[in-house]
Amino acid sequence: MIQLFIIAKNNFKKNMDYQNIILEKEDRIITITINRPKALNALNQGVLNELEHFFQNESDISQIDGVIITGAGERAFVAGADIKEFSGLTKEIATERGSKVHDIYFSIENFQRPVIAAVNGFALGGGCELAMACHMRVAGDKARFGQPEVNLGIIPGYGGTQRLVQLIGKAKALELMMTTEMIDAETALRLGLANHVVPHGEEVEKAKELIKTIGTKSPLAVSEVIKCVNSYFDKNANGYTQEITSFSKLSITEDFKEGAAAFVEKRKANWKSE
Ligand code: COA
Repeated sequence: MIQLFIIAKNNFKKNMDYQNIILEKEDRIITITINRPKALNALNQGVLNELEHFFQNESDISQIDGVIITGAGERAFVAGADIKEFSGLTKEIATERGSKVHDIYFSIENFQRPVIAAVNGFALGGGCELAMACHMRVAGDKARFGQPEVNLGIIPGYGGTQRLVQLIGKAKALELMMTTEMIDAETALRLGLANHVVPHGEEVEKAKELIKTIGTKSPLAVSEVIKCVNSYFDKNANGYTQEITSFSKLSITEDFKEGAAAFVEKRKANWKSE
């Protein structure tokens, strides 16, 4: 039975009753747990709608330092798109679903606070693609990454053909997508797919540690770093131009004055996001 859990604190806005994900907020960090463990957290339309709602509507970023995405249960982060929803797929529905998931994943990638995937098991297909849409990936030592879609006669359609290349390079990305080889956490680390490997069960804690570190930095500057780095991969943007725009925008902020003053006065900066 799908359960509904929402732990909302600190004015966290709740406008939707989530049925497929669990949201918890603690220490200015929101943890989203995809909660379909019996299906290895496969992405059905319900999960996707709720992720869409959270990332496109509900987040009040002034209240948070970051978001963690993880999977319920012991075995999986997300084992891919829900294959049981593939029956009856038409070309039109496939186009619509693909575009919708692209938009959701872009909203994760462009989220103005760090989003970290805590990969606690299988991250396959759309699950690997979800992890790749996040800014970083912390893998437990039982994590397995893979893009097995060609086994099913389809391709990675949730951004995998692009983001895997961005993260690990063309040659290895092609190999993993064409052979469907599943790689372990250490291999993912070596290839640059995972940022860190930790013992199974400690993924969320490590992700929280990273977000807490980032939370001590200027939130405005962190947001602009995300924007500039994403510009590198955006064919409609020029990353260098974005860098100048972001640099000059930040140069007149109160937080920049505060950051420089705090350095000179040998104290912690008191960020106001102004
Ligand atoms: N979509 C829907 N259901 C899925 C799923 C998916 N992507 N991945 C796993 N499940 C379900 C299984 O159907 C099974 O449900 P059931 O008990 O009702 O039959 C349950 O999760 C457990 O999976 P199972 O295959 O029995 O576990 P396993 O340990 O033998 O294998 C995997 C684990 C991850 C290797 C295997 O489930 C798998 O290959 N999944 C599909 C991965 C994939 O191709 N993803 C890309 C989709 S585009």
